[in-house]
Amino acid sequence: MSSAEVEKLKKWIDESDNIVFFGGAGVSTESGIPDFRSVDGLYNQKWKYPPETILSHSFFEANPEEYYRFHREKLIVDGVQPNRAHIRLAELEQEGKLKAVITQNIDGLHQAAGSKNVLELHGSLLRAYCSKCGKTADPDVMNKGTGVPRCDCGGVIRPDIVLYEEPLDDDITRKAVHYIRNADILIIGGTSLNVYPAAGLINYYRGNKLVLINLSETPYDRYADLIIHEKIGEVFASV
Ligand code: OAD
Repeated sequence: MSSAEVEKLKKWIDESDNIVFFGGAGVSTESGIPDFRSVDGLYNQKWKYPPETILSHSFFEANPEEYYRFHREKLIVDGVQPNRAHIRLAELEQEGKLKAVITQNIDGLHQAAGSKNVLELHGSLLRAYCSKCGKTADPDVMNKGTGVPRCDCGGVIRPDIVLYEEPLDDDITRKAVHYIRNADILIIGGTSLNVYPAAGLINYYRGNKLVLINLSETPYDRYADLIIHEKIGEVFASV
């Protein structure tokens, strides 16, 4: 892929050693994981309840069975691999150019690609714990199998993800603000920037190289110094 925008991004990346990436579900669609808000995304499929409801704290508490049906059928996609966006971001970190990946994704694909400093704003599907006693649990029990997974203590095992109605982790949020505030280049990609407080974190950026790589428009397009409406994996394969 080559365009004036991608060339500009490549030049900026070549010249910087303080890049921060902020991403969402669109980073993993090229790995085969559907996003939430595209026409073929999770939120446009027919479920008995809207996914935002199913993915909420109160729903999980009241209907763990229905939650787990959705979790295993929709959130878990077997055999996924990092794509060129994840891989290039990991390389940039290794080259000393990228300081942090801040992600809203819960799929663990940045770490699978080799990224070390990954701030998971919404947690991870690869971790589980008991909602009653807090003990760490085997994520396979949660992601595979049937029915509601339970701890030895009888409590319901839950994913270590941030459900709707739950706050973000303070420590992770503080770190994300730190990296964004001090970034030379902030690259935002594959996110509709519709979900707060995560989306609001990008307001801490103070530089003049705000890059947006997203297939569709976002509420932040007008603040961007560079906009690329292309597939993010293809863009990162070229920079
Ligand atoms: P969305 O589904 O809201 O947005 C994904 C964005 O990525 C859309 O704007 C797409 O146009 C774009 N996109 C899709 N594939 C792309 C590709 N290959 N290249 C570039 N852009 C692409 O997902 P998020 O913004 O991540 O939260 O959603 C934020 C949060 O909403 C999620 O973390 C999740 C959800 O509810 C929780 O579950 C708490």
